[in-house]
Amino acid sequence: MSTLENLSCPIDAAPLTRDQRSLTCEYGHTYDLAKTGYVNLLPVQNKRSKDPGDSKEMVIARQNFLNQQHYFPIVNAIFASWPREHLVNGMRILDAGCGEGYYLNEMGKSLAEQDIEAELTGLDISKWAIVAASKRDKMVSWVVGSNASLPVPDERYDAVLCLFGFPVFNEFSRVLTDDGLMLLVESGPNHLIELRKILYPSIHDYKQTFSDGIAGFDLVSEQEETFSFTLDSQEKIQDLLSMTPHIHKASYDGREALKQFDSITLTADIKLRWYRKNVKEVSHV
Ligand SMILES: C[S@@+](CC[C@H](N)C(=O)[O-])C[C@H]1O[C@@H](n2cnc3c(N)ncnc32)[C@H](O)[C@@H]1O
Repeated sequence: MSTLENLSCPIDAAPLTRDQRSLTCEYGHTYDLAKTGYVNLLPVQNKRSKDPGDSKEMVIARQNFLNQQHYFPIVNAIFASWPREHLVNGMRILDAGCGEGYYLNEMGKSLAEQDIEAELTGLDISKWAIVAASKRDKMVSWVVGSNASLPVPDERYDAVLCLFGFPVFNEFSRVLTDDGLMLLVESGPNHLIELRKILYPSIHDYKQTFSDGIAGFDLVSEQEETFSFTLDSQEKIQDLLSMTPHIHKASYDGREALKQFDSITLTADIKLRWYRKNVKEVSHV
């Protein structure tokens, strides 16, 4: 069950105590739970815009796409690559930038099948994403908040997941236990290459991210997962486009060209990298 316990006040970092439908810190800051059970820990002063993160339309498009299960192989790849000794009862997992909750929801089901009890927290800066997530799954603690300043105490999680998101490494390190794990899931060189060839006149060379390593973390494993899937209607193609950065980056001509397709088979090319927190290198400034 969602507990929303052991969170911290986003204003003064003091522990939050749950009292039925609200969380309160010792300095009197109170955060009410929404009807669907999530809590908003993103105070106005921490917002860079009125409605930060993915818009309502992007969230709906992502949910429509993910519900078709084309990306389920990613869930399998996450479990297949998870360092075995860390998949244990009582583990605490944070999905930082969880979107509308597809991955945590699927992971929760899979953990239950493996008889592993886990405490799952999903956090996203988009209120729309967390509203959708909190309707999808009542077992997860859903929080509106920012990776830039996570409203959780130090060393709170055994694993922090960042899937196609915006990692903030010093915060991820701060909230991880001493031998905690971080998972980065990102696009590989051929991800949605067929779509990109329709949208753009030329394809840029792929640039590996964090190729010099990440301060405070040791790389544990790295793998690429490739599979293909077919979208069999223009509506489904538009949902996929709307959940990617290409919706903003592609030209008018590119987007018009895509409208000519009723069906498209696409390559998913995903890079998964697991890291372990390196306490010797850590400095939380
Ligand atoms: C590409 S989406 C990926 C969502 C989800 N991980 C998935 O793969 O379905 C990126 C997500 O990061 C969220 N986001 C952007 N900036 C953020 C921040 N500073 N802190 C937390 N989430 C953020 C967006 O609202 C969006 O839901």
